[in-house]
Amino acid sequence: MARVLDALKLASGMRVLEIGTGTGYNAAVLAHLAGADNVISVELDPVAADRARQALQRAGFPVRVATGDGEDGYPPGAPYDRIVVTASAHTVPPAWVEQTRPGGMILVPWAPTVHPDWPLCRLTVRSDGIAEGRFLGPSPFMPLHGQRVDVRTTDEAERRWKAAGEPDCTRYGVTVTPEGQELWLDSPDNIID
Ligand SMILES: C[S@@+](CC[C@H](N)C(=O)[O-])C[C@H]1O[C@@H](n2cnc3c(N)ncnc32)[C@H](O)[C@@H]1O
Repeated sequence: MARVLDALKLASGMRVLEIGTGTGYNAAVLAHLAGADNVISVELDPVAADRARQALQRAGFPVRVATGDGEDGYPPGAPYDRIVVTASAHTVPPAWVEQTRPGGMILVPWAPTVHPDWPLCRLTVRSDGIAEGRFLGPSPFMPLHGQRVDVRTTDEAERRWKAAGEPDCTRYGVTVTPEGQELWLDSPDNIID
């Protein structure tokens, strides 16, 4: 979580959407950095959401915790300067890109569908609505509900990574357009998936 927070480049006053509230601990850190009024967190599990909501209140960080599927983002609070996902994914839902302002960033730990390190992906949303960025380094998180990967997929990804000469994860990147996403090696025109 510290590595993700560091990569987030968060400044006071930025609007942040966290996906995966869990205990609320990371939401409290986000509130400390950006201000509780600027942080919204979405949690799928209503029991966890309620517990985190109360814990955040008690701790003096009254973050808005919404119960719902984080793959939809949270439109009422958009646009965000940052969307940070504290669970892993392999596909960027269009809602995350649509709800991030141009110049804003999306941070998402990536399931091992391209590199075995579960690398952290940092995308910047451009003014043309396309999000693009590279992987930064290992950040294993439990998967988002609905974004689990099976062993066959991860085995095949590892086989392709080995066949490519085991490139460092920082050589891989992702481009997300309204039509879908492309994974690439070294540059966006060298598409691998
Ligand atoms: C690793 S935990 C997050 C840790 C949390 N940020 C903390 O500070 O404790 C992942 C959380 O994501 C939640 N989650 C899984 N799928 C989700 C989804 N589709 N939308 C929202 N939350 C989801 C899980 O219920 C779990 O609480």
